[in-house]
Amino acid sequence: MRILSGVQPSGELHLGNYFGAIEQHVRLQHEGEGLYFIADYHALTTVQEAPRLRELTLDVAATYLALGLDPKKAIFFRQSDVPEVTELAWLLSCVTGMGLLERAVSYKDKIAKGITPSVGLFTYPVLMAADILIYRSNLVPVGQDQAQHVEMAQDMAQSFNAAFGRDVFVRPEYRLNATAKVPGLDGQKMSKSYGNTIPIFARGKKLKKVVGSIVTDSKDYTKEPLDPDTDNVFALYTLFASDAEKTQMRKDYVENLVGPSPARPSTRRETRPGSGRCSPEQGKQEARSRGPSCSERSSRETISPRGSPGRRPPRRERRGRRS
Ligand code: ADP
Ligand code: TRP
Repeated sequence: MRILSGVQPSGELHLGNYFGAIEQHVRLQHEGEGLYFIADYHALTTVQEAPRLRELTLDVAATYLALGLDPKKAIFFRQSDVPEVTELAWLLSCVTGMGLLERAVSYKDKIAKGITPSVGLFTYPVLMAADILIYRSNLVPVGQDQAQHVEMAQDMAQSFNAAFGRDVFVRPEYRLNATAKVPGLDGQKMSKSYGNTIPIFARGKKLKKVVGSIVTDSKDYTKEPLDPDTDNVFALYTLFASDAEKTQMRKDYVENLVGPSPARPSTRRETRPGSGRCSPEQGKQEARSRGPSCSERSSRETISPRGSPGRRPPRRERRGRRS
């Protein structure tokens, strides 16, 4: 089985990229024949300064290697090093109806956000289909937002095969991770294009600042509990927490035990769930050494119901609240 996926070097890789895609890529390299690439041609739809694109391309390469992609196991390459892909993109564009591309949700979202589209942004799914079909890929592990693009590649393969009366292309299937859509700081999909990301390797003050800008519900949490099912901080916390921690935190939300105590808001030492103590890499190292997970440790150190003496409760972030 041939497994292929790509990531654009259009900004610093973030938790959405990790939990939606990279984690799968690293895991799947042990199954089947893996091909992973840096989609620099796709990134040209947003980044056009050559030095910046080169730097970001190297960053993506370093990030993948740091997160465990082994070039001895999987083929790891740069999209533009295979120029035949752009040639195939043209051939596919000639069997692709405008209507198919006009239905692309990712394109429509970008337009809705006020991004001025180029022809490249519009035909982005055709280049992506060429990436997939040229290597006769069977499986494409991606995040939720890319599933439709893989379906479009299926349509293009079918149209091409029908037009030329031969099964030239294999039908690719997408695969989603359990966490297929990670919310960003503003609650929308975390994305480099939306400036709402938590970078994978952010730490220290920078991480604290980013986490501090997560948007939460505007209701008065001192009077009624926040809903863990719609709360952004909770959603991000669950990415790192163990099952026991998630259950406990959900209980704390429902019982309105999260947040600074209304009685003594300023005297309490506070922290918040998932406050950056655990990186995916730390988690992996700990899994190898079979020690307590980073999230387990940070939970013991920092997460507790409000009001327990000597223990620090997570704080609901107020700064980024919707008004
Ligand atoms: P971005 O939207 O930040 O530019 P990419 O388009 O380069 O990210 O996405 C690379 C991979 O990461 C794709 O498989 C994509 O589906 C996945 N991905 C991106 N953002 C998220 C997210 N917020 N949640 C889950 N997966 C995501
Ligand atoms: N469009 C993908 C993204 O933004 C990146 C990508 C380009 C890709 N070509 C691909 C992903 C082929 C999977 C298969 O995430």
